Amino acid sequence: MRMELRHLLSIDDLAPEELREIVEWAISVKLDDGLFEEFTPLSGMTIGSIYEKPSTRTRVSFEVGIDRLGGNPLTLLKNDIQLGSSETVADTAAVLSRYLGAITYRCFAHGDVVELAAGAQVPVINALSDLHHPCQAAADVMTILENHPNSEDVRIAWIGDGNNVLHDLMLAAAALGMSITYAVPKGYEPDADVVKRTDKLAKESGAEIRMTHDPVDAVTGANVIYTDVFVSMGEEHISDKMSDFSGFQVNEELVENADDDYIFMHCLPAHRGEEVTDGVMDSNNSVVFDQAENRMWAQMSLLTFLIHPAAWAAFAELH
Ligand code: CP
Ligand code: NVA
Repeated sequence: MRMELRHLLSIDDLAPEELREIVEWAISVKLDDGLFEEFTPLSGMTIGSIYEKPSTRTRVSFEVGIDRLGGNPLTLLKNDIQLGSSETVADTAAVLSRYLGAITYRCFAHGDVVELAAGAQVPVINALSDLHHPCQAAADVMTILENHPNSEDVRIAWIGDGNNVLHDLMLAAAALGMSITYAVPKGYEPDADVVKRTDKLAKESGAEIRMTHDPVDAVTGANVIYTDVFVSMGEEHISDKMSDFSGFQVNEELVENADDDYIFMHCLPAHRGEEVTDGVMDSNNSVVFDQAENRMWAQMSLLTFLIHPAAWAAFAELH
């Protein structure tokens, strides 16, 4: 049985087969109503979550998911703890490791979650940084597989910014053999190193990865359409960013180019009327609230996998 300390800083910290099994585990748990009376792998453990930025889904899905696994969730807001103002990330990591079974961290600079993991003696999970959002990607591929069970049939169109959510979505898609075309305005391409890692995974899985600057090109023939806000948390100071995204709204006219049974996805929160219209968000093709729910199931699987691999494997054997 695996004993080494593992962290989840980006979704490709998991091998492709591990990611697939983690998602399948999450789907099994979601379908197993009576499970939580006897399955409490985090019993007696407190899991701490540090937030430097606001959160609805990540915070609540972690708190409820940890509680359902028998653990005790502890949310630590940046302004209430010493981190940053009078204590380094590394010292915070060493101290918190003495109390907690794992730490989740939502930060601005990705380097901070890397530093926290380097100094921690317990698993660290990135709960969103400026570069990566792995928990979102795990829930996203889970939602895609619920709707399109064969990875090789999946053709994702990303419309918008080359941001943190796209980074882990493209890594996860490539790992599982799902094809993705991302349409981004010039100047908003995804991080070059993430693209390189994605291409390597795609070579192994057979997924097709393509960039375009034309949303119609991306959506044509797609069966998954995904967008996110154009201005992410921490970017509010970048003036005029919005105007560079003219023509990138996911609206009724754009989705006409997709397969009839396409699903619409968004990590949320959505800025209705900006990157997506009400008509698309509220259509029968939209799975955005399933996606939000799946954050909890996917994170329950990730937490158990990282903290208590023996319990995770025993559950996997039974299902
Ligand atoms: N999708 C997501 O991470 O949402 P929150 O910012 O509400 O956590
Ligand atoms: N790209 C967005 C995602 C929010 C869940 C942000 O970083 O603000």
